[in-house]
Amino acid sequence: MVEDSLSPAAITNGLATRFIGQEVTCYPSLPSTNDVAKRRAKEGDKEGTVIITEEQTAGRGRIGRSWLTPRGSIALSIILYPPLAYLPSLIMVASLAVAYSIEQVTNLKVQLKWPNDVLLNGKKVCGILVESDVRGDKVDYAVIGIGLNVNLKLSEFPQIAPMATSLSWELGREVSRREMVQSLLAQAEKLYLALAAGDSVFKQWRDRLVTLGKEVQVSSGETTCKGVAESVAADGSLLLRQPDGSLLKIVAGDVTLRR
Ligand code: BTN
Repeated sequence: MVEDSLSPAAITNGLATRFIGQEVTCYPSLPSTNDVAKRRAKEGDKEGTVIITEEQTAGRGRIGRSWLTPRGSIALSIILYPPLAYLPSLIMVASLAVAYSIEQVTNLKVQLKWPNDVLLNGKKVCGILVESDVRGDKVDYAVIGIGLNVNLKLSEFPQIAPMATSLSWELGREVSRREMVQSLLAQAEKLYLALAAGDSVFKQWRDRLVTLGKEVQVSSGETTCKGVAESVAADGSLLLRQPDGSLLKIVAGDVTLRR
């Protein structure tokens, strides 16, 4: 077993950030870190506050799905108060921060799949759920929720094993969650601050998407479309070239690579 304390002191000690992760609350168990982070944001907690838990009992994924967080995973949420223009970029900030931190800590090669999946060898290792409250043209708060499978034996979770993986499963050894969290928070702050400087975050995200140029099937609600994932727009939507030549802009959906 690697040394693996997720106490606030262990996380903040030596953390090279200005505000993300400088306030941390750790729980042994929670239904969902995003729910606590949203409540704490409404109460006006500091920007960059992180809520983290050892396990979630009702972790939430996109489009009403559930997210499994047994012990050995990382489940955390970051509170932000961004300008409205940054909102579509938060998923890019989070995906890239996860990718860069995995690569920094483990040397594993990460792929990003539109819209928010982080993959290792084609299997999902992390899920991201960004939630926000907007009034008029003002963002009351945004919460970036990140669930990362770190030290999970996939053989113990047959329900997700066909499509999921973990860092330890890929590496054949355990990984320090403290190191992962610190790297992730530092990368997230760097990328978040870079949003002010223009479109570099968007370009980094676009260039990392394994989805682009591939024949895909996209399910969005009740509808399914096929085509070539041609590009992404700066607002994060996917541009799908359909068999009849038309270009379809897809804001939310699930992508399956067809070959
Ligand atoms: C997805 O892939 O559908 C997104 C999964 C997001 C899971 C994380 S774990 C931390 C945070 N709290 C939640 O309840 N969900 C997010």
